[in-house]
Amino acid sequence: MNLDLFDHPDFHPHWREDLCPGAAVLRGAALADESELLRAIESIARLMPFQYRATPGGYAMSVAMTNCGELGWVTDSRGYRYQATSPESHHPWPAMPDLFRTLAMRAAREVGFNDFVPDACLINRYQPGAKMSLHQDKDEVDLAQPIVSVSLGLPAIFQFGGLERSDKTQRVNLTHGDVVVWGGAARLRYHGVLPLKAGEHPLTGQYRFNLTFRKAR
Ligand code: SIN
Ligand code: FE2
Repeated sequence: MNLDLFDHPDFHPHWREDLCPGAAVLRGAALADESELLRAIESIARLMPFQYRATPGGYAMSVAMTNCGELGWVTDSRGYRYQATSPESHHPWPAMPDLFRTLAMRAAREVGFNDFVPDACLINRYQPGAKMSLHQDKDEVDLAQPIVSVSLGLPAIFQFGGLERSDKTQRVNLTHGDVVVWGGAARLRYHGVLPLKAGEHPLTGQYRFNLTFRKAR
């Protein structure tokens, strides 16, 4: 281990757990930035309120969503897609804070994705009972770029499966400050979040927030 690391101003000790080739959990990698991340989510949500969107099949999602960055992920009866403006206000999404981009790039680099520069950040808000069914992230143009996912607030059980929906899933407990990166051979693995257990987090109350960084175009 390179002990000079500890002298670096950005260094915050965290632990890496590999899930499979191309995927790892960086435990606590977002902890150093927790307050600034949460403040930024709040100001983004003030400009672009969280919305419960509908799947193309007409189901209301239980997770509320907003976005920042050049592109935002949305869903409605016309399908899943990225777009540069909010479907409600037709305004561009708020800019991605430098802190968000830097954190995502640093996490991606730690897992071997050296040229990841996200252009989209989906912000998910889970309240007790909210869940995300197993799915693949495949609306992005360049599948050589990874997904970086930051967990804040209440803990959740992340399901990490295989390349087929029916493959066995690992259950990964994600807590405040954890960052998951998946790309390469793992890029199209199915994943989801089990219904959020009620609780009270000192910084986020009854919510879990998840930031998912993507290179959409
Ligand atoms: C997602 O797959 O977009 C969300 C993952 C999570 O909330 O941890
Ligand atoms: Fe996803």
